[in-house]
Amino acid sequence: MKLMSIAAVASILVLLACAPWCVYSQERFLVRMTLVRNAPALGAFCLDGSLPAYHLHRGFDNGANNWILYFEGGGWCGDIKQCLGRAKTGLGSTNHMNKWAIFSGILSNNASLNPDFYNWNRVRLRYCDGASFAGDGKFANGTSLLYFRGQKIWEAIILDLLPQGLANAHMALLAGCSAGGLATFLHCDNFTRMLPNASVKCLSDAGFLLDERDVSLNHTIRSIFEDIVSLQGVEQNLDHKCTKSMNHPKLCFFPHYALKYITTPFFVLNSAYDVVQFHRFLVPSSADVEGKWKNCKHDPAACSADQIAILQGFRRDMLEALNFFLKDSKSGGTFINSCFAHCQSDAQESWFAVDSPRIRNKTIAETVGDWYFTRGEAKEIDCEYPCDTNCHTLTPVHQVPDCAKCGSVGNKTLTSKAGSHDRIWSKYSPILVVLLLP
Ligand SMILES: *[C@@H]1O[C@H](CO)[C@@H](O)[C@H](O)[C@H]1NC(C)=O
Ligand SMILES: *[C@@H]1O[C@H](CO)[C@@H](O)[C@H](O)[C@H]1NC(C)=O
Ligand SMILES: *[C@@H]1O[C@H](CO)[C@@H](O)[C@H](O)[C@H]1NC(C)=O
Ligand SMILES: *[C@@H]1O[C@H](CO)[C@@H](O)[C@H](O)[C@H]1NC(C)=O
Ligand SMILES: *[C@@H]1O[C@H](CO)[C@@H](O)[C@H](O)[C@H]1NC(C)=O
Ligand SMILES: *[C@@H]1O[C@H](CO)[C@@H](O)[C@H](O)[C@H]1NC(C)=O
Ligand SMILES: *[C@@H]1O[C@H](CO)[C@@H](O)[C@H](O)[C@H]1NC(C)=O
Repeated sequence: MKLMSIAAVASILVLLACAPWCVYSQERFLVRMTLVRNAPALGAFCLDGSLPAYHLHRGFDNGANNWILYFEGGGWCGDIKQCLGRAKTGLGSTNHMNKWAIFSGILSNNASLNPDFYNWNRVRLRYCDGASFAGDGKFANGTSLLYFRGQKIWEAIILDLLPQGLANAHMALLAGCSAGGLATFLHCDNFTRMLPNASVKCLSDAGFLLDERDVSLNHTIRSIFEDIVSLQGVEQNLDHKCTKSMNHPKLCFFPHYALKYITTPFFVLNSAYDVVQFHRFLVPSSADVEGKWKNCKHDPAACSADQIAILQGFRRDMLEALNFFLKDSKSGGTFINSCFAHCQSDAQESWFAVDSPRIRNKTIAETVGDWYFTRGEAKEIDCEYPCDTNCHTLTPVHQVPDCAKCGSVGNKTLTSKAGSHDRIWSKYSPILVVLLLP
């Protein structure tokens, strides 16, 4: 009953939020799902026991030997009840998934929309395990059955792709967003080892989840993550150097702790005010029973000075957690911007468009390309909210203070553009609604 109404509300929101971009539906590029037929032999199943899947669009011309693998996101499940609910949806079963996926942004096949990767082989890995492709376990009590086989799904998809040309890859990029962005941290070095002759790099979008206490000082995200790791048998698949070094080895599920041990060149793309981290982990509804954050969550311009100070503290903690990487990693790249966004690489409007987010006048696509092909400096950190006027989200330009210090790397100023409405936000609000509902 409750699930039904959640689904109904979510789908109405999808329709509403979709309105502006469905206009362009004739330009949307859809790719059909491929089921992984050999998965059962490897013990790889979605939560409900269905076959795992991916979507592949072949590369061409001089991209024919290069590969992007992109992990889809979609939250997590850390208790039996949640996982049973999920198993009945497209987040836990390929039986319930849309059989076509949109390839846009970093997955687009159009050179003018995706200049560096458009002709690569592009693969979208469907997410149906609920633990960032990293669990290995099972729940069975006679009446209910759940597979926690994210790690096996990852391996089964790789084994399926190797003979299709992945084994001869010259260049490869492992990427993903949200729970899929977290998966790139967990699988990056393993992917490199599987492609010993390729030049391999990894990119996490909206996956840099901080082990941060919520506004009521509870360890909300830590306890959620510990539940996921325990329930789904993730710990054995975490980086062993990391787990050996920690008093609480489960915490190696946090990118913040795992990143130190990753040797493959890595790119961290994240908003410093990532809306999922903000809404679900920094200010979960349990920490805001009086609803004081309601307006601020809906529109950052409505936040009080105290609330802005808390958000700036969150941004500082994110930069602090990345500090060693910014300083020491020669092969690393970053794009930490200040838009209230979540997942910016697979949506055309944030990846590469006339009015997409920029730092120092460079889009995300350009910065990632510069990093991947070592064309130049690619460690971009935006100035703090509200000075970035490139976001589609926020603050009309007349309210934005003098922006002389925008773009903290170097001294060039950003171009000013009025972000009149809230496209990224409205596009993702339905996903958020699904993620944020209990
Ligand atoms: C590529 O994208 C551009 C810009 O949106 C568009 O004008 C062009 O028609 C697209 N090309 C193809 C082959 O779809
Ligand atoms: C199995 O687990 C489910 C979910 O926790 C529960 O509803 C069901 O009663 C359990 N069955 C048995 C036989 O314990
Ligand atoms: C990747 O990880 C899996 C699971 O831990 C392991 O079985 C496999 O050997 C690893 N591959 C490489 C090349 O290290
Ligand atoms: C990598 O290249 C070497 C030398 O060309 C070759 O012998 C080896 O089989 C290749 N390995 C893979 C996994 O393709
Ligand atoms: C936060 O922590 C306090 C003290 O441990 C506890 O009483 C309270 O229930 C917690 N709140 C939530 C929402 O977990
Ligand atoms: C920003 O980049 C665009 C092209 O992407 C260029 O047309 C414009 O002149 C640049 N603006 C500045 C201030 O450099
Ligand atoms: C930025 O400006 C400051 C003060 O004007 C100057 O000292 C510094 O060298 C400049 N940095 C760069 C990278 O141009």
